[in-house]
Amino acid sequence: MATEKEIVVSGIRPTGYLHLGNYFGAIRNYIRMQEEFNCYFFVADWHSLTTHPNPKDLQANVMRVLAENIASGLDPEKVTLYAQSHVPEIAELYLLMNMLAYKGELERVPTFKDKVRLQPENVNAGLLTYPVLMSVDILIQRAVKVPVGKDQGQHLEMARNFAQRFNERYGNLFPEPEAFNYGDNLVRILSLDGKGGKMSKSENEMATIYLSDSDEQIRQKLRKAKTDSGGVPGEPMPESVANLIEIMKLVSTPDTVQFYVDAFNAGSIRYGDMKTQLGEDMVKFISPIREKAAALQADPTYLRKIMKEGAEKARVNAAQTLQQARNLIGLNYY
Ligand code: TYM
Repeated sequence: MATEKEIVVSGIRPTGYLHLGNYFGAIRNYIRMQEEFNCYFFVADWHSLTTHPNPKDLQANVMRVLAENIASGLDPEKVTLYAQSHVPEIAELYLLMNMLAYKGELERVPTFKDKVRLQPENVNAGLLTYPVLMSVDILIQRAVKVPVGKDQGQHLEMARNFAQRFNERYGNLFPEPEAFNYGDNLVRILSLDGKGGKMSKSENEMATIYLSDSDEQIRQKLRKAKTDSGGVPGEPMPESVANLIEIMKLVSTPDTVQFYVDAFNAGSIRYGDMKTQLGEDMVKFISPIREKAAALQADPTYLRKIMKEGAEKARVNAAQTLQQARNLIGLNYY
């Protein structure tokens, strides 16, 4: 029965085009999890408001993220897909949870410190309390597993802290959620420029492969990917090459990967060949997703229907948790 399955929650901010990091850090897990778990996947539109997007861009981005999730293999019949802002219960629990979140701990969050450094002119309260909202997204559905990339690990730790803090003060309500990946470790896909940063929606477009890239863009970006000057037998693999091998493992056959790993170890690797091969395998992987996503975006009526039905389901489960939270806190006067 659906209610007996473990609950899973994850979200993606609609702040730009989805890329390989989003796919391999998160969406790939969603697709497998939909068969085994009771999954709630949402577009984190409130979270994206910290950067004040213009309303038209916001709407286009929300619809695209939804379309790209479905095009990647999420089945709206199996999972609950919704926009965060369509579940107002989240906002109330966020208000309640903010009373248990301390300024000091929020200021110490690495993602907050990064934002303060990158956008000192826009350090708003939403940014500071971002991890509280994210925790509530998860806790309100009483999720136990949260498929995310490595960059979200710290936020998950905070979600566990908030769950514990609430449970200790008011009584047991929230399970403690864990970050989840089918492999051993959480995934971090690096950008192709070899500078060590992660692929991200809004930075360095030439070093990021998007699910919406054309075949030619994919080939071109991979041709330009950073490698090194050539393997020397016995030398450790540079990070930029290791990242390409990791990406190759995701889209190429095991034999192809092994061939290039062996060539690296033997000092005979030809990076041009490797990048051409990876380009072709990547095109095969991305082009069906891109085409399906385009077709879905041409049918906004369908996407709206999915979102609406998803929000209705997500609200039922969220409302139950919220009511229990109100009761435990003592906000039940009649
Ligand atoms: P966001 O929108 O930045 O990213 C969506 C998902 O993609 C993963 N990801 C990556 N994984 C590996 N390598 C990369 N280069 C890479 N870049 C992104 C992210 O880890 C994430 O899983 N705060 C979240 C959104 C959110 C959320 C939630 C997630 C809001 N509420 C509740 C889970 C549960 C974020 O900004 O993700």
